[in-house]
Amino acid sequence: MDTRPIGIFDSGLGGLTAVGALVQAAPWESFVYFGDTANAPYGDKTRSELAELSGHNIRFLRSRHVKAVLVACNTSTANAMDAMTGEARGLPVVGVIRAAAQAAAPLTKTGRIAVLATAATVRSGAYERAIHALLPEAEVTAVACPRLVPLIEGGHTDPADPALRSAAEEYAAPVRANRADTVILGCTHYPIVRGAIEAALEPGTALVDSGAASVGTLLAALEARDAMGDRKSAGTRQFFCSARREAFARHGTAFLGWPVENVTEIDIRKY
Ligand code: DGL
Repeated sequence: MDTRPIGIFDSGLGGLTAVGALVQAAPWESFVYFGDTANAPYGDKTRSELAELSGHNIRFLRSRHVKAVLVACNTSTANAMDAMTGEARGLPVVGVIRAAAQAAAPLTKTGRIAVLATAATVRSGAYERAIHALLPEAEVTAVACPRLVPLIEGGHTDPADPALRSAAEEYAAPVRANRADTVILGCTHYPIVRGAIEAALEPGTALVDSGAASVGTLLAALEARDAMGDRKSAGTRQFFCSARREAFARHGTAFLGWPVENVTEIDIRKY
């Protein structure tokens, strides 16, 4: 047994999609969440910027004595896994991309899978590699969706919001044109606007939530190391961000449906 917390990070609110799934699956686990709201969005950053930012995030979480890190950010997973593994000094580091590809593979009937993701994730080709490792013949349509994260961080999550609707329709168009039957929400922010995305896609399209998919991998990694927490106790929840603490707490609470409170703002560059 290991009762230390799990470290989880994202550029902002997106990783809360993984937090919601973790709290449901393993309510006894404690966690420390960091949202790098001062540096969001990550999706328009270069690989070297992402390695640097992700390194700060890992060092911060290490300073909180976590037992493992869940990289609840596709953009960091796609671009900075080597840098993060180095910084983690032996702590398990679990990303989101392989888990999302594994969740999508059994869902597709036609072998046509689309990935909605940030520009930096699409550019990395990480999803094509992960999907083709499982389904070599799959046709992958990867669509960069740069307008979504700024809208979500700004609180535009109502499916009727005109800016959100127009962005969702624009990004759904290539998915519909290529007749994908399965869509990976390859950015952890996107399940927050699942309603708007679903409304823009062909009815019946299967959606995969990358943050939620990664929780199974994380728990399996803990189990394998005999590092699960104490199932008889309730886990503790700590939230940190690097800017706009109040908006983070407000939007996070609205999404999760339980209070995201006592959010501490930190200067992540110090780590
Ligand atoms: N939520 C993150 C991801 O999964 C980062 C989005 C962003 O900041 O651009 O890629």
